[in-house]
Amino acid sequence: MIFTVAIDGPAAAGKGTIARAVAARFGFRHLDTGLLYRAVGMKGGDPVAAARSLGPADLERDGLRTLEAGQAASRVAVIPEVRAALVDFQRRFARAEGGAVLDGRDIGTVICPEAEVKLYVTASPEVRAHRRWLEVGGEEARVLAEVRERDARDMGRADAPLRAADDALVIDTSELGIDEAVATAIAAVTGRLPRG
Ligand code: CDP
Repeated sequence: MIFTVAIDGPAAAGKGTIARAVAARFGFRHLDTGLLYRAVGMKGGDPVAAARSLGPADLERDGLRTLEAGQAASRVAVIPEVRAALVDFQRRFARAEGGAVLDGRDIGTVICPEAEVKLYVTASPEVRAHRRWLEVGGEEARVLAEVRERDARDMGRADAPLRAADDALVIDTSELGIDEAVATAIAAVTGRLPRG
């Protein structure tokens, strides 16, 4: 079975948690596409060359989850040649046999517009910054500033800006517990699975 669940949304909205839960529930593979951009941003040197030569070891280096790596990712993610270099890998992952969940910014709009299920997971900047702050610590005001800066860059770029696909189900996790958000996502997938 070829079946893609596309999960897009801004930083720290809960995409990763929902993606992992959906993948585990249905036995689908999961790709956190943000990790690709984080790895390109942290590799240093020419970002286009870094994207073209990205390998498994780059995705396992330390520090990819830091605020700095998030900023570096969103800076290289505006470069069309960087995005183009990562498209094939993501498309193949999405449409390989067995079912796949991909979370990112442009999965339902650019990488896999034919995805069987599209979710757009969002929450207010304050709620998202608070969640990210619980993970990374430091000063909460700085985390909020970082979230806002990255939102502006991701939504404002010309190539593959962050937006909900027209046919995406929007899940606002501002006032929704993670269990409810996961249950909503699982129900959406269940409703689209082939019967029998
Ligand atoms: O985990 P968090 O939501 O904070 O970020 P992420 O998903 O790891 O993505 C880091 C950055 O990579 C984003 O701010 C985007 O600029 C970029 N990105 C993208 O452009 N397209 C994707 N499909 C995934 C990430």
